[in-house]
Amino acid sequence: MPLSYAKLLAAACGLASTASALHPLVVEGKDFVNSVTKDRFQIIGVDYQPGGSAAFKKTADPLSDKDTCLRDAAVLQRLGVNAIRVYNLAPSADHDACASIFNAAGIYMFLDVNSPLTNGALDQTAPWTTYNHFYMQQVFGVIEAFKNYPNTAAFFSANEVISESSTENAGIYIRAVQRDMHQYIEKHANRSIPVGYSAADVRPLLVDTAYYLSCNLENSTESRSDFFGLNSYSWCGDATYTSSGYNVLTQDFKDISMPVFFSETGCNNVKPRVFSEIEAIYGPDMSSSLSGALVYEYSQEANDYGLVVINSNGSVSLRVDYDNLQKQYNKLDLKAITQSNSSQTSMNAPTCNPDEITSNITKSFDIPKQVDGIDKLIANGYTTDVHVGQLVDVTSTTPSQQVYDTNGNIISGIKLNVLSDDATNTPSNTTTSGSTSSSGTTTSGSSAAATSSGAASSLTAGSMTGIGGLLAFALMAL
Ligand SMILES: *[C@@H]1O[C@H](CO)[C@@H](O)[C@H](O)[C@H]1NC(C)=O
Ligand SMILES: *[C@@H]1O[C@H](CO)[C@@H](O)[C@H](O)[C@H]1NC(C)=O
Ligand SMILES: *[C@@H]1O[C@H](CO)[C@@H](O)[C@H](O)[C@H]1NC(C)=O
Ligand SMILES: *[C@@H]1O[C@H](CO)[C@@H](O)[C@H](O)[C@H]1NC(C)=O
Ligand SMILES: *[C@@H]1O[C@H](CO)[C@@H](O)[C@H](O)[C@H]1NC(C)=O
Ligand SMILES: *[C@@H]1O[C@H](CO)[C@@H](O)[C@H](O)[C@H]1NC(C)=O
Repeated sequence: MPLSYAKLLAAACGLASTASALHPLVVEGKDFVNSVTKDRFQIIGVDYQPGGSAAFKKTADPLSDKDTCLRDAAVLQRLGVNAIRVYNLAPSADHDACASIFNAAGIYMFLDVNSPLTNGALDQTAPWTTYNHFYMQQVFGVIEAFKNYPNTAAFFSANEVISESSTENAGIYIRAVQRDMHQYIEKHANRSIPVGYSAADVRPLLVDTAYYLSCNLENSTESRSDFFGLNSYSWCGDATYTSSGYNVLTQDFKDISMPVFFSETGCNNVKPRVFSEIEAIYGPDMSSSLSGALVYEYSQEANDYGLVVINSNGSVSLRVDYDNLQKQYNKLDLKAITQSNSSQTSMNAPTCNPDEITSNITKSFDIPKQVDGIDKLIANGYTTDVHVGQLVDVTSTTPSQQVYDTNGNIISGIKLNVLSDDATNTPSNTTTSGSTSSSGTTTSGSSAAATSSGAASSLTAGSMTGIGGLLAFALMAL
């Protein structure tokens, strides 16, 4: 593979490259596609929010500290991911070093435009109170901050706004925000950047929501989603394609005319997690319906979903979950995953028809008018207190922090591999044990700790809403 040659070359020269730039992704029909090679892009990704949303500050976020990004990019690159999702971003922070590090690592960024601060998101019970120019300053600020990075893959317009507890017409506001984002990008970015929604796994509303956001509205074409993320935790432990309900999701999303992927996944009812769902997600049953998945989440936080522990001295300790996920990634058939498929890329969006909607999400396609001030923000651009990003040189490739394997041994040689121009990161087929000799005696326990309760857990998990929703709820309660 040319990839490994490039890696070897970069490693041999020991050079930090500045020329390296990922090819932007575009949406064609039902697939993400590499805009230059035309290969299909499926997300092999991890949700990245060290410190959780509580750690978010107006001036600092997970992509504003060069040293932690270098450490985490090296650890994530080794895991084999090609994408991260980052939830809460501060437009005023300088993201150049971090975005450049992830770019050099061949890792794309899926970015939420919301923040947990006041005026930072649509209120699901009264979205009309939050659709205003204060909120849109946050949204456009994030676009300005990230529009110039080639590895900015996409923006999430909203996360889990539609659920049992939302007001019926929440959908029209999501479409309004997407219209405004598309207009902003069209006017102020030099390429198109996909915009879409991340949904809670409320099964009775799911198919209608995906249809509602994907259909074409003649009088508001810009309000359509370019993709659909689903936060879903229905595969627990050793569940199967059918016991997890993944077979139903495959059917549900087969004909949805935009890329669909898990924007959060990785049930932790059974610990440690074995990630047997990875084989199904990227395998022949699901891969035409789904464009991959983001596993929740990189760092261990109070809710116990971490692949690694970030220690207080800045070192990182891998958890067994990391080893298990890496082993699953190493088994993937990358040729199949990147194969383009003209039936998929030529799929067209249907024209919106209220009769198609049978659940109690809104049937209205009367998208709210652009309220006062938003039109001016779009016309003039919004850069007040915004650091408009640009790639910079990656000057160092060796993290200063230690990384420990699951046995507590230091992994030597952890570094960022600067990939060549067109190279997306791929599973490296290494194991985490690094230079230590523990690989033969692997304690990762990929199967030992799994119990047979997986299928049972998954029955109740079907109606569970995502962690993001729980977090949002917790924050609102503060
Ligand atoms: C868009 O802007 C970026 C960053 O300024 C630049 O690197 C890139 O070449 C531009 N692309 C086009 C198509 O003009
Ligand atoms: C939709 O109906 C379900 C079941 O009747 C109910 O629990 C839910 O609150 C309703 N949701 C909306 C958005 O009206
Ligand atoms: C191509 O896509 C179509 C439509 O989704 C699907 O039925 C078919 O199996 C795919 N072909 C391959 C080779 O994956
Ligand atoms: C950092 O913290 C980890 C976990 O507590 C510990 O194992 C390690 O020895 C510490 N490293 C240094 C250099 O202090
Ligand atoms: C746009 O079209 C939809 C569906 O035909 C309709 O319900 C809505 O009222 C129209 N909106 C405007 C502003 O004309
Ligand atoms: C990955 O490593 C395993 C064990 O070393 C080897 O059997 C397998 O062929 C490798 N796979 C690839 C794709 O290189």
